[in-house]
Amino acid sequence: MDISKYRKDFPILNSDDSPVYLDSACMTLRPQIVIDAITDYYTNYPACGGRSVHKLSWQVTENFEMARDSLRRFMGAESPSEIVFTKNATESMNIVANGLNLTKGDEVLTSDKEHNANVVPWHHLAKYKGIKYDVLPAKDNYFFDIEALKESLSSKTKLFSFVHTSNLDGHSNPAKEIVEICHDKGVKVMMDTAQSAPHKEINVVDLDVDFAAVSAHKFCGPSGMGALYGKFDELKDLIPTYVGGSTVVNSTYKDYKLLPPPSCFEAGLQNYAGAIGSGAAAEYIMNIGRDNIQEHENKLNKLMTKELCDVESLNLVGPSDANQRGGIFSFNLDGWDPTEVAMHLDEEYNIAIRSGMHCVHSWFNSRGIDGTARASVYLYNNEEDVLSFTNAIKESIDNRK
Ligand code: ALA
Repeated sequence: MDISKYRKDFPILNSDDSPVYLDSACMTLRPQIVIDAITDYYTNYPACGGRSVHKLSWQVTENFEMARDSLRRFMGAESPSEIVFTKNATESMNIVANGLNLTKGDEVLTSDKEHNANVVPWHHLAKYKGIKYDVLPAKDNYFFDIEALKESLSSKTKLFSFVHTSNLDGHSNPAKEIVEICHDKGVKVMMDTAQSAPHKEINVVDLDVDFAAVSAHKFCGPSGMGALYGKFDELKDLIPTYVGGSTVVNSTYKDYKLLPPPSCFEAGLQNYAGAIGSGAAAEYIMNIGRDNIQEHENKLNKLMTKELCDVESLNLVGPSDANQRGGIFSFNLDGWDPTEVAMHLDEEYNIAIRSGMHCVHSWFNSRGIDGTARASVYLYNNEEDVLSFTNAIKESIDNRK
């Protein structure tokens, strides 16, 4: 399917000085329909949801809950009660980390290619609660080691938490197999789906995962919005981190009674515009179809890889096969600092990529690598973008010789 027609939906790609935007693994662009949904809230019904009884308030509540249902379908969840609005995937994962009430002696295991969102909360609990945090090494540097997982789970392991698709190299882990192995051993599973759900079909029921985290800014939604999926029975057992207004049935000077999920996790007045914008983004992506997005990204990444694979001074970080890297191309150039590459492309060619450790510091530090330059594509990129980037890289190398 040709999805190039959707490019016109993105205002920033339709001006005279539009950038070649190849930084969607960090932050996607927003289509007009999402911008309009946000503006519509602030313009036409900028009220509070779930409290007042006037018409504007009812409209907020209705649209907020419709957005929750869009997120439910986006994740493949059974019930809207299993979707908690959060400010990003990081907050979602922290809610689980704190809510499991882990104590000294409990163990948490992650893969070795995790974003800080799935590393630092566990270090924090190790430091302040005495839990044990362990890391499962990859096979051949990039691939998930199923046998090592089987050997590493013990009766003390309370949670295996892993990234579905890596933001570092675009490689996806075998989620279904991982969840099955963990459940066979009685271990709960959390998935960081921030980099997978925007790019490929995901169904949390089919995967049988206990918790999953997403960020809206990675699927054309507003920044500062995300969601936590949890099986209802798992959410019910979590201790909410933040409580207060909107989280209780009632309270007295002596006691309080919490509402059931998801309300008990959504303390205080919510980011209504953000949630409604996230719902609009989820609908937009589902309408295009993530199978189509995945196929499109794959085609672009294959072209990028073909154009650059013979460049001697370019070192790809990640599996060599483009099919294994989604829409991500992470690399280093001999003699260049990754940030120098990103700044040079921005200043000389108006091409936006990201550089650094991409919040996966632990992986880079363990390998003594300072970071990478990273180009990442999404549904609005085209072959012209890819060739602008690959030609700029080749020209920059030649000019430096
Ligand atoms: N923002 C992080 C990235 O760029 C997750 O990959």
